[in-house]
Amino acid sequence: MSTRAPGNAPRVEPPEETVGLLPDNYPRSALALTALRHPLSIPRFLSSRLAYRSNLRHSRGIAGVRLEPPDEFFRSLTGGKELSSFPVQTPVLEGLVMTFRRIGEEYSRRWNSPLAQGSSALDLNDARVLYALVRARTPRTVIETGVSDGFSSLVILEALEENGGGTLHSIDLPEIGAPSLIGRAPGWVVPERLRPRWRLHLGPSRRVLPKLLREIPRPEMFLHDSEHSYTNMRFEFSSVLPRLGASGLLLSDDARSNDALIEAAQEHGGRASFCEGRLGGIARGSAAVG
Ligand SMILES: C[S@@+](CC[C@H](N)C(=O)[O-])C[C@H]1O[C@@H](n2cnc3c(N)ncnc32)[C@H](O)[C@@H]1O
Repeated sequence: MSTRAPGNAPRVEPPEETVGLLPDNYPRSALALTALRHPLSIPRFLSSRLAYRSNLRHSRGIAGVRLEPPDEFFRSLTGGKELSSFPVQTPVLEGLVMTFRRIGEEYSRRWNSPLAQGSSALDLNDARVLYALVRARTPRTVIETGVSDGFSSLVILEALEENGGGTLHSIDLPEIGAPSLIGRAPGWVVPERLRPRWRLHLGPSRRVLPKLLREIPRPEMFLHDSEHSYTNMRFEFSSVLPRLGASGLLLSDDARSNDALIEAAQEHGGRASFCEGRLGGIARGSAAVG
């Protein structure tokens, strides 16, 4: 997706229509089993396919955006702190890699096909940055949308545990291919020892997020990783940004799917930053200082 302009940071190409959709090699038998177990997932899949088309009409701004290397991105969102001061612990990263491998192997065994949905999980470099952001900003309350297998939940919870405080509220509407292994519960990779800090809310973010924000009027950090359609991202960002307060941080995975993050920053104040991985974020005003 990215190209490098001479002597400059990489710039982004406009998003492709397929971002976030099922890959062509998704096994037919897995699809049929999901349809049997969760009949509603089929109309939902079709409507989400339509929603993704809105990205094509709202991607002019993103095409020219400048991508920051992870350390610069981290400084932008923490008021100048150094990424290297918050190293992710080796067992956490090793655990992530081993779980990716386990899912891949089990998936191939069951469906006689390579893992088609592996790309939906948080990228490993982004996982490092996410972990460090939670460590550096020590939020008491984090909200995320989009759980699937639960890799981002796991990373946030490990960082909260290391901080010694904080709660993660995760919202998820399971769909075809998420979680990657059919029959698993959303967030199944999160171990028991981290669950006391975790609240999982099932349902579409359009319904659950407003309800949750009434209970938690001032979250300190938000991560979007649910449906990356322009309409859904605009909805989640406009719901959360005014509530984040002066020191809040909004993050988005697949932030370059469309112009939603850029427009949200223009509307609600703050600067949208985009990392060379898939993360983007807005730290509000002076609050960038964690
Ligand atoms: C990209 S995956 C999340 C990956 C996860 N953050 C990780 O790192 O492993 C997207 C998840 O969002 C869910 N989802 C899709 N549309 C949603 C919606 N409108 N509200 C809540 N969750 C949604 C999908 O079922 C899927 O579980």
